[in-house]
Amino acid sequence: MQKETVRTQQEFMPAQFATMQKNVDPGRQEHILVVDDEEPVRGALTAMLEQNGYDVSAVADAEQAMLHLQDDPGCDLVLTDVMMPGVNGLMLLDVICSNHPGVPVVMLTAIHDIHIVTNAFRRGAIDYLLKPFDRTQLLEVVLRALEHGHLLKQNAAYRQNLEQIIHSRTSRLRATMHDLERSYDITLEAMGDALDLRDAQTEGHSRRVTAYTIALAREFGLNQEQLRLIARGAFLHDIGKISTPDAILLKGGRLTPKETEVMRQHCARGYEMVHKIPFLRDASELVYAHHENFDGSGYPRGLRGEDIPLGARIFAIADTLDAITSKRSYRKKLSFAQAREEIERCAGNQFDPRIVRVFLNLPLELWSKLRKEVEHAPAGAFGVTTWASSRQM
Ligand SMILES: [Fe+2]
Repeated sequence: MQKETVRTQQEFMPAQFATMQKNVDPGRQEHILVVDDEEPVRGALTAMLEQNGYDVSAVADAEQAMLHLQDDPGCDLVLTDVMMPGVNGLMLLDVICSNHPGVPVVMLTAIHDIHIVTNAFRRGAIDYLLKPFDRTQLLEVVLRALEHGHLLKQNAAYRQNLEQIIHSRTSRLRATMHDLERSYDITLEAMGDALDLRDAQTEGHSRRVTAYTIALAREFGLNQEQLRLIARGAFLHDIGKISTPDAILLKGGRLTPKETEVMRQHCARGYEMVHKIPFLRDASELVYAHHENFDGSGYPRGLRGEDIPLGARIFAIADTLDAITSKRSYRKKLSFAQAREEIERCAGNQFDPRIVRVFLNLPLELWSKLRKEVEHAPAGAFGVTTWASSRQM
């Protein structure tokens, strides 16, 4: 080691180091851990660094270094010898990189071996110093390493802060979306209720059929987003009947061919109404196709098989289930078991046989349980989208 006149860190600081000090906290004495099995080297390093204002701890081996780092997680830099008995400097480097990733490590080596140096860099060292070195070389490397450490810490703090900001904004956005979705639900329910008010005979049909459709769609394996879309479509399926004249909508007896034609227009009318509303655009496909039959005998377009949107094929079963199990002016209501037989009988012509199979696998009690739940739900507590999102069968 060369002997040099002792100067303070600031006095010593050449111009090129001044910029590097910008990120160093001036009010804090930086702590450097020196690891070297040779006492004279430890002594010289400690003296040079302390003379330049650093707080230095020096240990003789890697085991002591690891213990020291456990007790002092605020260490700013480790200078470690490579060749030491027991755990060598490269192994210590691995431990520090793994357990203390924010602490920069500079390797000290007496051997000018490119393999050792490249190996150290590859394993995470940020610099190396070839022994013997002079004070200038030492302080230059130390300053650079400390700067590197500070940037790492700033980066980690920035990242953590950013994650907190993102988390907080995501939570706020989620809450807003939830409120918005609830507003959509309330709007949907007002539209459905407006229809129910016109046709007292089918009161509650929209809600029951939504619950049945969701239960069946969930069993069929559809995801939450698909369930939400189908729930909206199911709830509004007959919304086009708002434009159907009372004389036809409320007629007790059989409709004439002309009246039937007018009645059938409710699918296209409903589609036209709902399709214009952006959050209901996908749901409008179910509204349009809810009277199509699997064999192509339905209306208004005579779609066949998988040309009928999946939601509409699922809905068709739920709609029939509710129609059969609800009282009508022209007949009494039938049991869920009877409805089930009828749906099974119509598999392949009116209904998609794959969905009928899923329907038949569901227990009969489910439908009466859902019916009770829907009918006993307090006013305003149904929530079309909420129903689709949160109910587990
Ligand atoms: Fe309809």
